[in-house]
Amino acid sequence: MKTSIILALMVLSFQVSAEGNAEHGKKIAYTCTGCHGIPFYQNVNPQYHVPRLGGQNEAYIASALKAYRSGERSHSTMQAQAGNLSDQDIADIAAYFATFNQ
Ligand code: HEC
Repeated sequence: MKTSIILALMVLSFQVSAEGNAEHGKKIAYTCTGCHGIPFYQNVNPQYHVPRLGGQNEAYIASALKAYRSGERSHSTMQAQAGNLSDQDIADIAAYFATFNQ
């Protein structure tokens, strides 16, 4: 009985993660917040504007990251950041930043 409950939970959490798991996104977005999570949305050095991600539309964040990853959208910093992300990572990160909307 217990085993079947655990199995059901595992299946459930797997389904959630396929759509974008905000909890995992939070973990892997840790480095992103060094630039995107600071007050005034400015990088410390050099000083340039960093777009605000919190509360941004989930689909928009995911498509922006895929565009950086493929090189379709050019920005050397963000291409380096997005280069190693899997589709699942991107979905998770997008789900995480979108939670600031709620
Ligand atoms: C070194 C600083 C830095 C880090 C670290 C960084 N970013 Fe960025 N990010 C930027 C800058 C600057 C831009 C604006 C680039 C442009 O003009 O295209 C940007 C743009 C973006 C955009 C597009 C936003 C928009 O409004 O179009 C997304 C999405 C994004 N970053 C996500 C991330 C994620 C996810 C991570 C972590 C994996 C990350 N960034 C790490 C500096 C950074």
